[in-house]
Amino acid sequence: MFLRFLLPWIVCCSTGYVIAASPKEEATTAPPALQALADFPIGVAVPIDPWPNSLLKSSGRQALVERDFGSLTAENGMKMAYLRPAPGVFFFLYADALVAWAKQHGKVVHGHTLVWHKQLPEWLTKMEGDAETFRGLLQRHIRTVAGHFAGELVSWDVVNEAFTDDTPSTYRDTVWYRNIGPAYLELAYREARAADPHAELYYNDYDISGAIGPQKLGRILEMVDDFLARQVPIDGIGFQMHIDTDRPTLAQMREAFGKVVRRGLKVRISELDVSVNQDKKYPTLTPALEALQKQRYADVVRTYLETVPPKLRGGITVWGLTDGDSWIPGFKNRADWPLLFDAEYHAKPALDGFAEGLQSVQRP
Ligand code: GLA
Repeated sequence: MFLRFLLPWIVCCSTGYVIAASPKEEATTAPPALQALADFPIGVAVPIDPWPNSLLKSSGRQALVERDFGSLTAENGMKMAYLRPAPGVFFFLYADALVAWAKQHGKVVHGHTLVWHKQLPEWLTKMEGDAETFRGLLQRHIRTVAGHFAGELVSWDVVNEAFTDDTPSTYRDTVWYRNIGPAYLELAYREARAADPHAELYYNDYDISGAIGPQKLGRILEMVDDFLARQVPIDGIGFQMHIDTDRPTLAQMREAFGKVVRRGLKVRISELDVSVNQDKKYPTLTPALEALQKQRYADVVRTYLETVPPKLRGGITVWGLTDGDSWIPGFKNRADWPLLFDAEYHAKPALDGFAEGLQSVQRP
């Protein structure tokens, strides 16, 4: 009885939103769900099993994902190290579980990533052989993995981070480049299209939306132009965008997205997070930083909408769900709070910023 009396006043749902309602009125102050504000995918990268913070083991994470996002990316679990434990062995149990969960909950899945120079299986890093051997390994990987998920994923990062940060940018020295030469890129895209003709194929990279990026983006676009001229399949560019509150500028982002749009290719913001403690000045997240971060999320999303026309919007994915999950503190060795939810699953002002950005431009 007491509970029945109390409940209408304060309902604190598992998403962290506080919904206050009087007995007469079922009013809610929860902001609209992000995905409901967009007609392109709003996504989030999530850990899958066997990581301890797996989406599939956490009802708290599932509640957030269900509400706000329409697209999922496995943060690590579809990388080669985890899908191919031995040259002839493929392991899909955990990745399949994510795809099944997504389907059950009406979400799409983006594949990340078929070809990269990191998170490779150890056997591959020790492997010796001629170009034909490595071509065979790459081909089999893409055929098997993209073939396994064919029809289940909407898109793939076919190749991740193939070019260097140098000026001029050039091919990164990877196991694939060293053993096959630059032709591995074309091979990867052709194999991916053949294995899953309906998945959109992206090239994905960091620091290409400005700052140190122009020369690297230029090199990537040379590859794209060559692919387009020779009918090598590619549908879009993924801008990782692990950014902070200052850099890159919005003008730089606009310019970078514009170069892809002019080629008729799709633009995905594929790994968005906004660091606020890049100078290691803050031991805690202050209200001023929260406000800055909120504005930054709003600005990035608005810039995307203003620069990328609806038919070329591949979507925006944030790289992790809660600040407690983010890769930034560990990797950069500093406290930071780059995401939309705090470690206790409460929505941050950043979430409102993202929503404001989505609402800043009229939907067609
Ligand atoms: C790159 C990769 C991601 C992830 C991040 C760091 O951006 O594309 O898969 O590994 O680094 O977590």
